[in-house]
Amino acid sequence: MVDVATLHFFYHKIDRIHSLVIRHQTFDICHFKSGDVQNELDKIHQQALEALAGAETDREIEDLAIRYLGRKGILTQFLRNISQLPTEERPAAGKKANAVKTALDSAFKLAAEKLASSGAAADAKIDVSLPGRVPAQGTLHPITQVNQEICDIFLSLGFDIGEGPEVESDWYNFEALNFPKNHPARDMQDTFFVSDDVVLRTHTSPLQIRTMEKQPPPVRIVTPGKVYRCDSDLTHTPMFHQVEGLLVDENISFGDLKGILTTFVHQMFDEQTSLRFRPSFFPFTEPSAEVDILCVICRGEGCRVCSHTGWLEILGSGMVHPALYENVGYEADRYTGFAFGMGVERIAMLKYGIDDIRRFFENDVRFLSQF
Ligand code: DAH
Repeated sequence: MVDVATLHFFYHKIDRIHSLVIRHQTFDICHFKSGDVQNELDKIHQQALEALAGAETDREIEDLAIRYLGRKGILTQFLRNISQLPTEERPAAGKKANAVKTALDSAFKLAAEKLASSGAAADAKIDVSLPGRVPAQGTLHPITQVNQEICDIFLSLGFDIGEGPEVESDWYNFEALNFPKNHPARDMQDTFFVSDDVVLRTHTSPLQIRTMEKQPPPVRIVTPGKVYRCDSDLTHTPMFHQVEGLLVDENISFGDLKGILTTFVHQMFDEQTSLRFRPSFFPFTEPSAEVDILCVICRGEGCRVCSHTGWLEILGSGMVHPALYENVGYEADRYTGFAFGMGVERIAMLKYGIDDIRRFFENDVRFLSQF
């Protein structure tokens, strides 16, 4: 197959050769019979004007100008050879040839100006049969899509959506969440410090405190956002996304937590995706549980993705620690609730079978446009 660029290349080459051949044709005045000269000059004038009418590009106009008025052009040759005419015919022939020359000169100039002002000065002809160029269309980033999907599921379960600052005080990121200073659990978080007391939030859990400070129970909210940790490998990037959830009211039990998270997993993945709640520790929940789902790749058989355990961890959760209620001024003996937090990239990787988290941040359109 010859591509369009190659065709254009040859098209120009042929065009060029054609005009060179014409340019080197000499004009032999001796062929004229005496008395023919005036007619012949009229014919040349007419032909030049006709050719000019068909010229569509700068190059074509320029080639015509060279062909008729150039150093070896038809009219130039004529004027140069005028001495070969019978003496009595020379003055009229000279006058006529000069008049044609001047007329063509201004016709070429006018045509070039017209072309320039019409904006069609480009060298290429317009091929109206070529298919149009389809404008590239963007899509939502897969992380944005999964983030929206998570939020939509919780919206449908009656949760509100909230947000908060990415630069956070030590109080909200740690202290109010029951991480005392020098508590070893702070080490789990690989914190970026802005100053001694200010950090880039390491999780979205500070939004539990900010939400409860702002409103009395009942609280039912999910808060998506960016979080930061000094960590980078196949499954970690220094910035990633979390969605935090918090539900506080009277008589909320661990059963409610299990019910909501089971519904979430079934909607996010499918009804066949079973869950298990594995005891864990977080300073801000008691009891705490990590939630695993049956491996989406091998369905529990054991594979590389689930490290042959058959299970994949997808989120942390637990019953809100009473210390948090004290910190926000809730009645700790009246209210109970649960919280959970999940990584959006992790959910997206499991849902779409992506094995390297860095794909999400390389902005390779071939990757992004698959979602
Ligand atoms: N903030 C925790 C983390 O980033 C995740 C988490 C665990 C959030 C338990 C919760 C929770 O709300 O109850 O590792």
